[in-house]
Amino acid sequence: MKFQYVFLALAACLAEALPTFDGSRHVWFTFPGFFPTFESSFPIGNGRVAASIYGGASEVLGITENSIWTGPFQDRIASTALAAEPVVREMLLAGNLSEAREYAYEHMISNVTSPRSFSYFGNIGIDFGHAEEEMTDYVRWLDTREGMVGVEYVVDGVTYTREYIANYPSGVLAARFTASAGGELNMNISMTGLIKILSVTAAAAQDNNTLTLRGSSGQSVDPILWTGQARFVPDEGAVVGVSGTNLIITNASTVDMFFDAETSYRYASEAAWEAEMQRKIDAAFALGYDAVKSAAIADIIAFLGRVTLDLGTSPNGWAALPTDQRLAIARNTSEDVQLSTLVFNFGRHLLAASSRPSNDGTVALPANLQGIWNNSTSAPFGGKYTININIEMNYWPAGPTNMIETQLPLFDLIGVATPRGQSAAERMYGCPGTVFHHNLDLWGDPAPTDNFTQSTMWPFGSAWLAWHAIDHYRFTLDKTFLQEVAYPFLSEVATFYECYAFENDGHNVTGPSLSPENRFMVPLNESVPGASEAVDIAPAMDGQLMTEIFQGFLEAASLLGIPDSDPAVAAARTFLPTIKPQQIGSLGQILEWRVEYTELVPGQKHLSPLWALMPGRAFFSPHQQHALRCGTGAARSACVAWLGDHWLEPHLADLPVR
Ligand SMILES: *[C@@H]1O[C@H](CO)[C@@H](O)[C@H](O)[C@H]1NC(C)=O
Ligand SMILES: *[C@@H]1O[C@H](CO)[C@@H](O)[C@H](O)[C@H]1NC(C)=O
Ligand SMILES: *[C@@H]1O[C@H](CO)[C@@H](O)[C@H](O)[C@H]1NC(C)=O
Ligand SMILES: *[C@@H]1O[C@H](CO)[C@@H](O)[C@H](O)[C@H]1NC(C)=O
Ligand SMILES: *[C@@H]1O[C@H](CO)[C@@H](O)[C@H](O)[C@H]1NC(C)=O
Ligand SMILES: *[C@@H]1O[C@H](CO)[C@@H](O)[C@H](O)[C@H]1NC(C)=O
Ligand SMILES: *[C@@H]1O[C@H](CO)[C@@H](O)[C@H](O)[C@H]1NC(C)=O
Ligand SMILES: *[C@@H]1O[C@H](CO)[C@@H](O)[C@H](O)[C@H]1NC(C)=O
Ligand SMILES: *[C@@H]1O[C@H](CO)[C@@H](O)[C@H](O)[C@H]1NC(C)=O
Ligand SMILES: *[C@@H]1O[C@H](CO)[C@@H](O)[C@H](O)[C@H]1NC(C)=O
Ligand SMILES: *[C@@H]1O[C@H](CO)[C@@H](O)[C@H](O)[C@H]1NC(C)=O
Repeated sequence: MKFQYVFLALAACLAEALPTFDGSRHVWFTFPGFFPTFESSFPIGNGRVAASIYGGASEVLGITENSIWTGPFQDRIASTALAAEPVVREMLLAGNLSEAREYAYEHMISNVTSPRSFSYFGNIGIDFGHAEEEMTDYVRWLDTREGMVGVEYVVDGVTYTREYIANYPSGVLAARFTASAGGELNMNISMTGLIKILSVTAAAAQDNNTLTLRGSSGQSVDPILWTGQARFVPDEGAVVGVSGTNLIITNASTVDMFFDAETSYRYASEAAWEAEMQRKIDAAFALGYDAVKSAAIADIIAFLGRVTLDLGTSPNGWAALPTDQRLAIARNTSEDVQLSTLVFNFGRHLLAASSRPSNDGTVALPANLQGIWNNSTSAPFGGKYTININIEMNYWPAGPTNMIETQLPLFDLIGVATPRGQSAAERMYGCPGTVFHHNLDLWGDPAPTDNFTQSTMWPFGSAWLAWHAIDHYRFTLDKTFLQEVAYPFLSEVATFYECYAFENDGHNVTGPSLSPENRFMVPLNESVPGASEAVDIAPAMDGQLMTEIFQGFLEAASLLGIPDSDPAVAAARTFLPTIKPQQIGSLGQILEWRVEYTELVPGQKHLSPLWALMPGRAFFSPHQQHALRCGTGAARSACVAWLGDHWLEPHLADLPVR
């Protein structure tokens, strides 16, 4: 048996053959990506460091690290907010809607309207001395199950391959470059960045050929600083030299690369983050490429391999075509069902590559608006943590597709943001507890962001994230998480709303707030008639969020055996039934706002007043809610049993899977 395995492994190594492409698993093209068109690159990542791989004749690897952002923490709480809030409420109650929004946006938000933006490390460029016209038999692929990228082509009868992998356990990116004929592999390697580059150095030394880049977010005080290093390991017979800031490798057959970048976000001094970077690179070097690769694959398969989706086989041999041809076909028909499976697998690859929990005690950061990939110093919408649907949506598939651990970095960020939110609660609203508006950055900056009518004034990002805290428990049944993470955060969030809400028409309501990201026409009896506004009192979604947060808080308290006499529990019990209930409009619709205003964008894509339907649970019956909470993961049967609702069992099969 043993010999047989060795033989098979050896045969696999020697063949270095193309993978047999699986139409449900591989994205593949017969042409390179078009640098700098970012969207044409292949993304890989280990949750912290990532690469966008173009695969051209001259290779470009766009490198990101999730704590490289545009600068230090900014305190953006407007000192005039606290005094302005009651004024704005009076204006709203008097029907002076435009005046209220103007006053709020002049006095309750900072004149520094933007938090920090996600940025990027830079590019590793590799010139192989090949021209695009000389390349034949070109193919590049992304394996969505192993998280690997490959490139293969022929120049002058020599086959060249490139292989890229992101390793989560050891924290590095690794690559192997080969030529089928000995000594034919030549590489002229550069490292470039777009932001403030402090230094780029190339060094050729026995067993230690490196390119090192040090960069800065550029501020004179407290900039974010980083160092990234790529170490190249050629086979014997290769010649390595330095030309300016480039590393030149000639006459090689195989070259391996190990890369890491570390930043001042996680380490207090340059010495500390560079020591960590060297430790990771040295460890990977000591293991060698094959071991780094197999460890990365073993890790990711154990994780992504928990779910297999089978929607059937595509007709007409479509699944065997390169992905661009399938996408063209898909414009006409949805019959290429394996393309849907591929999209599902691609999505899980992206989440696994952009969001993994910390494995060394440092802070992990969640997937941002760009996941973890971008090629610009300032990504669209800042590549922030936009928490009025976007970041939450990144994690909607995490539980149902059995990769709930990817959500843990979200709670690391919540931990960073909670004290900032306490400061915002106190200084903007005079309240205890914590509050986040509709964005966070890596520093947890919770202040209102931008100056946009339909999104800025929304103190409910913290509520939506609190819902993720209780939902995470419902998927994992992890009591330690419930006690140490979910309950304290739910408590902070509930405490804020108990203070922030005010009485109107016999209920506790919210405002100034809005229904992300829709606007309405101001009616004739209010001012200014016909203007499009968004800021008001008691949008439906606020009530829906508070209801489920208070229910979740009480559920958590009961699970943890915290008695009803506990003051926080007693306060929540008093408050929950006083939240303004949903209103039904003239068409039977859930009213988005307190008045049946005319929507500016009917069916606006956020569908904010339907939060209670999805991801909320309010429109399900209680027994459906219980069953849905159990998710579809390995813990489902234990969860159902734990719920004790044995009478539910026969109904479970009929319920929609979330
Ligand atoms: C990034 O990608 C965009 C979109 O494809 C492209 O227009 C731009 O030139 C790229 N920027 C850089 C710095 O590579
Ligand atoms: C509302 O606007 C009207 C007309 O501009 C003004 O007379 C009134 O004082 C305003 N009310 C509040 C509470 O601002
Ligand atoms: C305007 O009319 C609506 C609907 O009749 C009513 O709910 C609202 O209170 C009125 N606004 C004012 C300022 O009177
Ligand atoms: C927001 O924009 C409005 C004009 O649209 C302006 O009056 C207000 O001062 C701005 N707020 C801040 C804080 O810059
Ligand atoms: C923003 O407001 C602060 C405090 O009110 C003030 O010192 C600063 O000059 C303002 N900045 C801008 C760009 O208006
Ligand atoms: C390496 O590439 C750079 C451009 O990045 C070029 O200036 C240099 O001449 C090349 N060096 C060699 C030895 O090919
Ligand atoms: C390899 O070289 C780099 C750059 O000169 C240096 O920082 C690092 O300590 C070296 N590593 C080893 C193991 O010698
Ligand atoms: C490198 O390869 C070239 C072309 O194959 C050959 O001419 C040259 O002698 C080799 N150089 C060394 C140092 O081996
Ligand atoms: C899609 O349908 C159009 C119109 O029938 C046709 O011209 C086109 O070739 C089709 N595309 C593919 C990829 O089948
Ligand atoms: C990264 O940011 C640039 C500049 O804003 C943008 O052109 C590019 O499309 C972004 N990348 C992605 C994947 O959106
Ligand atoms: C609003 O909430 C407070 C605190 O729970 C409660 O005492 C009060 O009765 C509520 N108001 C209404 C109108 O229900």
